[in-house]
Amino acid sequence: MGSIDAPTFTQNGSDATVAADGPPPPVPDSAIMTMEKTLEADSSRKRRFGILPLEVGTRVMCRWRDGKYHPVKVIERRKMHIGGVNDYEYYVHYTEFNRRLDEWVKLEQLDLESVEAVVDEKVEDKVTSLKMTRHQKRKIDETHVEGHEELDAASLREHEEFTKVKNIATIELGRYEIETWYFSPFPPEYNDSLKLYFCEFCLNFMKRKEQLQRHMRKCDLKHPPGDEIYRSGTLSMFEVDGKKNKVYGQNLCYLAKLFLDHKTLYYDVDLFLFYVLCECDDRGCHMVGYFSKEKHSEESYNLACILTLPPYQRKGYGKFLIAFSYELSKKEGKVGTPERPLSDLGLLSYRGYWTRVLLDILKKHKGNISIKELSDMTAIKAEDILTTLQSLELIQYRKGQHVICADPKVLDRHLKAAGRGGLEVDVSKLIWTPYKEQG
Ligand code: ACO
Ligand code: ZN
Repeated sequence: MGSIDAPTFTQNGSDATVAADGPPPPVPDSAIMTMEKTLEADSSRKRRFGILPLEVGTRVMCRWRDGKYHPVKVIERRKMHIGGVNDYEYYVHYTEFNRRLDEWVKLEQLDLESVEAVVDEKVEDKVTSLKMTRHQKRKIDETHVEGHEELDAASLREHEEFTKVKNIATIELGRYEIETWYFSPFPPEYNDSLKLYFCEFCLNFMKRKEQLQRHMRKCDLKHPPGDEIYRSGTLSMFEVDGKKNKVYGQNLCYLAKLFLDHKTLYYDVDLFLFYVLCECDDRGCHMVGYFSKEKHSEESYNLACILTLPPYQRKGYGKFLIAFSYELSKKEGKVGTPERPLSDLGLLSYRGYWTRVLLDILKKHKGNISIKELSDMTAIKAEDILTTLQSLELIQYRKGQHVICADPKVLDRHLKAAGRGGLEVDVSKLIWTPYKEQG
């Protein structure tokens, strides 16, 4: 399957539309035409200067990293240190793409001929449909998904205003330098740093490389704090109690928020357990991703946030983390569901997981099977089973009952489309007791 951030990141500018900074049009032969052209160019230049600097809210075409022009909305602007009155950089949102691709661009990347009438809208058009659960509200968050309570426009405006521009551009973590995706509410003293340096084991973060180097000489952690509850080959999972390891939990949340858009800011890490997946070698256990889970969830959430760090994405770790969260639910004897809203990537990963797990069972199963039975076998909440099977058009409503139609050929086709299975969780290697049973 291709990336949903397509078009691809090629730097080929050859097929780009000619922009404001592109080559001038060829000079026509006739003198009259030349005059007309001059007048045209003149008015175009006047128009350009008239609209500069661009207002926040302006919609315009912008040259992206694929060399092509895409529609953007100006989210913010800042004056460059050197330059004239009109020398601004613009923070733009590509309206066709996810917010993680928002970036600062120079004026040359914008096609000023395409500027649309200035729109003075601080908040996306979707404002009125933005909603949230009571639960999320409590944790200071908002969502872009239907089916939740209304979020009042004022709080949303405040949040959008506060988080609209990425504050940290890159982080260094272990062997990787990683470009961030979203704003994260680091303490104010970190907000003047474009790059932060993380200790990959305790997740403390610093503003300078030398500070990190000094820290690494002193830090005696070689894996996440907490209990190793799973080990298979070089993969280990650690369970970290947010109450016992508050600073680690908070650091993890600051880090994770850089890659999660509409997600909770945890002020209360005490209430969560963090399951940190690591690849281990002789230098230590290196975090590849994690998921968090409320110790007690009234809404039967078995996962609050899930993240695979970008260098490790698309290798099956996301599916492993999801499968792991359901294995924990099975041990608890409960059904579970991920906290909403799901991000675009979260939804893709969950859909793929649910499809594979359910269709594998349907393929092998002889005779009738109910949604309740599927739920008992998989710990997947009945609603998620129903929506998955409905989206695959495998459910029919007959005589007041939902009936699953499982034609083997159709199942095979869907299974193929759902992609690779990913890394398996070897349940025999999971040594864990549910939270409530501990001390
Ligand atoms: N483009 C297209 N499909 C994708 C992409 C992508 N960029 N990323 C994942 N997928 C789909 C694919 O179907 C993929 O399977 P495939 O590779 O076999 O085709 C499947 O999702 C999952 O692939 P994995 O390799 O198992 O997952 P990964 O390790 O990449 O992690 C995750 C998925 C956790 C969602 C990751 O993308 C991530 O961390 N994203 C940022 C944070 C986020 O959005 N988290 C979910 C928020 S919702 C919540 O927390 C409840
Ligand atoms: Zn450390």
